[in-house]
Amino acid sequence: MVQDPVRVAFVGCGGMSREHLSAWRALHGRGARFEVVAAADPAVALAEGAAAAAAQWQGRPVAVHADWRRMLEECHPDAVDVCTPHDLHHEVAAGCMEAGADVIVEKPLAVTLRAGRRMLAAARRHGRILATAEQVRRWPGSRALAWAAGGSLLGRPLLASIQFVGGSRRDPEAADRPGPMPWRLDRRRSGGGVAIDIGVHMADLLLYCFGPIRRVTATCALWADRPFADGRTPDVEDAMQILLEFESGMHCTWAHASVLCGQALHTNAYYGTRGSIASAGFYPTAPRWQRWDGQETLEPEALIGRCLDALPAEERERLFPGWLCPDPLHPQAGGDIGVQLELAEFLEAVRTRRAPEVGGAEGYAAQAVAAAILESGHLGGQPLLVDDVASGRISRYQDPLDAALGLA
Ligand SMILES: NC(=O)c1ccc[n+]([C@@H]2O[C@H](COP(=O)([O-])OP(=O)(O)OC[C@H]3O[C@@H](n4cnc5c(N)ncnc54)[C@H](O)[C@@H]3O)[C@@H](O)[C@H]2O)c1
Repeated sequence: MVQDPVRVAFVGCGGMSREHLSAWRALHGRGARFEVVAAADPAVALAEGAAAAAAQWQGRPVAVHADWRRMLEECHPDAVDVCTPHDLHHEVAAGCMEAGADVIVEKPLAVTLRAGRRMLAAARRHGRILATAEQVRRWPGSRALAWAAGGSLLGRPLLASIQFVGGSRRDPEAADRPGPMPWRLDRRRSGGGVAIDIGVHMADLLLYCFGPIRRVTATCALWADRPFADGRTPDVEDAMQILLEFESGMHCTWAHASVLCGQALHTNAYYGTRGSIASAGFYPTAPRWQRWDGQETLEPEALIGRCLDALPAEERERLFPGWLCPDPLHPQAGGDIGVQLELAEFLEAVRTRRAPEVGGAEGYAAQAVAAAILESGHLGGQPLLVDDVASGRISRYQDPLDAALGLA
């Protein structure tokens, strides 16, 4: 029986958890019914920081734990927000669900697809909610793109062209360049580089807007391959060139190499039989529509406004609940509105047992595309059916990771 208010715990209190904390705070400020009961992280100072912050705004103490298992035994949360490195997602999520808690886990769902399947099985076995934290599709620009896809503005979608190339201000040949967090450089802990870390966001967005992806052809490379000052050598790919073929016949070309220095080329554009939608940056945060003849355009606010006006009231309330986001074009303070929306929907799912929009299965589907990119790259650019990777028939890139994690 879920308690009211829902008792929430945090596991992993690093960088992304701080973004979640801001969102939880914003939800609390707008009257969402939950209470933070515990924060767990072996870096205890980080757990203490999160606990102190939440205790201050909710006016109730928050327990601090180094060990998440002990936290479960002592605090019995209804819901757990997991923001750990990727190699821990399956173990922590399954452990929490076994202990009777619902779980939202940061993307990617898991470090490998086999680990992801363990999570899906655990959710089924214990009858728990498993949500994947995925904010990108929840942004107003993404909702507008999904709405326009297949409608009269875009027509039948034909091509997505995504470029996230250049713009790094780091010297790729310098040995003393600062590095990302150590676990991100380690394939066994992260499951791969940009494909899994950032690629799952784009994969989820494309699946959401344009439907299933049938085949993936990719090359992957490690270009900033110098050892770091402390001697660590990254073994994850930082660049990928991809062709995606959708079930619908649509194609996507996607060049991702933000590790390159010099000129930044960061755009995403979507072409259909009636027009195009394009945005600067990696995601459609500022989508601009242009009609086939170039004679009519809609600037981002106008396009998003048209989408909001067209949504049936119930759907608009589902996507942008009035209590949290009354004006999606001008979200209130509290950090990333997509993160606020995903956590608000998770709370609602915990309370009502309604399936979240991005559950375990949706997280798995996005991860399968990322895994297909890695598997295709590993096989020298061989075209692969996503189904063959999702089903586990092709897993050569992931096999050593599963073996190292004791999952093989
Ligand atoms: N949605 C987004 O835009 C976004 C952005 C950044 C990161 N993320 C995701 O968030 C997750 C965390 O990434 P991050 O950037 O916060 O990494 P991070 O390294 O900053 O934080 C991870 C935290 O987990 C803690 N941790 C390690 N082992 C643990 C254990 N056994 N129990 C509890 N905590 C443990 C670490 O001490 C650290 O504080 C990843 O899944 C990452 O992909 C998502």
